[in-house]
Amino acid sequence: MKIAVIGGSGLVGRRVVELLDGRAEVASVCGAAGVDLRTGAGLDEALEGAGAVVDVLDAPLLDAEGAPAFFRDTMLRLTAAAERAGVGHHVLLSIVGVDRIVGSPRYIGKRVQEVLTLCAPAPATVVRATQFHGFAEQVASWSRRSEPGKADTVTVPPLLVQPCAVDDVARVLVGLALDGPAGEQIIEVAGPGREDLVDMARRTFAARGDEVRIVPSWDGPFGTEYSGDVLLPGPGARLLGTGFERWLAERSGYTVE
Ligand SMILES: NC(=O)c1ccc[n+]([C@@H]2O[C@H](COP(=O)([O-])OP(=O)(O)OC[C@H]3O[C@@H](n4cnc5c(N)ncnc54)[C@H](OP(=O)(O)O)[C@@H]3O)[C@@H](O)[C@H]2O)c1
Repeated sequence: MKIAVIGGSGLVGRRVVELLDGRAEVASVCGAAGVDLRTGAGLDEALEGAGAVVDVLDAPLLDAEGAPAFFRDTMLRLTAAAERAGVGHHVLLSIVGVDRIVGSPRYIGKRVQEVLTLCAPAPATVVRATQFHGFAEQVASWSRRSEPGKADTVTVPPLLVQPCAVDDVARVLVGLALDGPAGEQIIEVAGPGREDLVDMARRTFAARGDEVRIVPSWDGPFGTEYSGDVLLPGPGARLLGTGFERWLAERSGYTVE
């Protein structure tokens, strides 16, 4: 079977493409492969003969306000092309809590993406994942400030999360693409344990030996609407194996007892 990976050059997409190698014919559908979902250039050719689509596209991070239009336009184009190609299953990666956050353009865009996928003719599975283990470091990097003679400062919101490994999520997506729809339209996946994002940032910088002062704050892209349990998975979520401490140890070269 041919499987098209939409966003195949991205963080999740690269791992999906690697895992599919040798198990399916893979088409990586992304800018790096000469396909532009904002115009449709190269899309029909890339989807020709595809039995399934794994969709891990993401909008440009720096254009938060443009996210709803990006996800709407690219998804309308993608589902129409998938229908022309006769794609039999659309697997979309989304975010746990996407239906509980109001007012965030990024989350509005992801909801639009979900709805358009579920309205398209091909059977669809939406996989809502929690934040990845690298999320604390990613968020901290957005606010990192240097001052001569002092440790760098970052601002991190004290979010309650149940983070998961990109590898584990990629395995779920690949399993669904190879095996076909599992009967549920929306699946939640999460890591094995709850964490506080500020503590994750502190442990990440400590493991790297990077001396950084962390200021917990709701000022920034994640305000108090993200507080409490809004980003946590429900009781029916599939729990994935790799916890934050093990993930950090694997990347930082220390041993977890
Ligand atoms: N970060 C988290 O903690 C987290 C948690 C749960 C779910 N997610 C979801 O996971 C998904 C994937 O995230 P990621 O971090 O893997 O994204 P990423 O690394 O930013 O990759 C985005 C991909 O989209 C492609 N792309 C963007 N614009 C395109 C266009 N106009 N035409 C064709 N391809 C285009 C990029 O290809 P080129 O650069 O080659 O154009 C790239 O392959 C996102 O939807 C995100 O919401 C993330």
